[in-house]
Amino acid sequence: VKDGNGVKGMVDAGLSEIPERYIQPPEERINKLDANPNVPTPIDLSELDGPHHDQVVEALAKAAETLGFFQVVNHGVPVELLERLKDSAHHFFNQPPEKKAVYLKGVSPSPFVKYETSFVPEMEKALEWKDYVSMVYTGDADAIKYWPEKCKESALEYLKTSTEMVRRILEVLLGKLGVTLDNSMCDRYIGTKMVNMNFYPTCPNPELTVGVGRHSDMGTLTVLLQDGIGGLYVKVEDEGGAAGRKDEWIEIPPIPNALVINVGDTLQILSNGKYKSAEHRVRTTSMQSRVSIPIFATPRPMDKIGPLPQVVEKDGVARYREFLFEEYMNNFFGKAHEGKKSLDFA
Ligand code: SIN
Ligand code: FE2
Repeated sequence: VKDGNGVKGMVDAGLSEIPERYIQPPEERINKLDANPNVPTPIDLSELDGPHHDQVVEALAKAAETLGFFQVVNHGVPVELLERLKDSAHHFFNQPPEKKAVYLKGVSPSPFVKYETSFVPEMEKALEWKDYVSMVYTGDADAIKYWPEKCKESALEYLKTSTEMVRRILEVLLGKLGVTLDNSMCDRYIGTKMVNMNFYPTCPNPELTVGVGRHSDMGTLTVLLQDGIGGLYVKVEDEGGAAGRKDEWIEIPPIPNALVINVGDTLQILSNGKYKSAEHRVRTTSMQSRVSIPIFATPRPMDKIGPLPQVVEKDGVARYREFLFEEYMNNFFGKAHEGKKSLDFA
């Protein structure tokens, strides 16, 4: 990637076989036929303000406790913006390499904007088949100045129009634990936002690669916009969850106009294990490139994180220790993706 070509550059150059360093060990490869397509009804968030409020609260809590993944509609992000976001991602990655290379680590105009291939290439035995640009929000002025031209407008609008939804979902989930979300908790638990634009180029050997390897997200909540290609798989952690059998991989199918929401490690820790930060991964395809656009809502680096005292009191035991979120981040970004191993830090 150091020339800015990324995986996309290799594919555009017409390779017919993937380079050795992208070949996953057999146990990490994804067999499309292994996954059970499970199509849960998306949760209508507008119902939170109507007569079905209690049912929606139950549905959100149940999804967070079992699979840790659910989809929402009427989420407050304009449907027209969802289309523009996917277009922006394609526009960014379709640029010539030299336009993208200016955002590579070390030369990027901001430490908060990074264009990269794979997750932590220097730590990985096999690389992920994915190019991405990540943008940490440090204020409007910085975003306008430093975020890539092709992405900044839609990404900023996405951040702003999803903020209320993220707060609302967290309020509901913490509410079910007997905790009232106030402004200072909002700052502490979802005070940092990062938007990524992910590009998974077509792959000549999809059966040997992964778009993203098995991992859980480190933050509190993740909002994900995916296009219609499919390939996002989640592992069922709990026996008895409606989603599927324990250890089974199920696909989160693309649903038009919906957003995918998932619980991250931080929320699993805050809830003392009640809400599940699910292990997930992404398959590549030989037919079409895929884009996805997540927003990660996380604590700020200097925030102290640990199980919420109200929950610990009820449970009689703290299942995780307290730590500075910065330490958690350093641990998370210091290792290759490896399932839910990141949680061992807590
Ligand atoms: C990720 O979890 O890192 C990406 C998810 C996706 O592309 O669907
Ligand atoms: Fe993820």
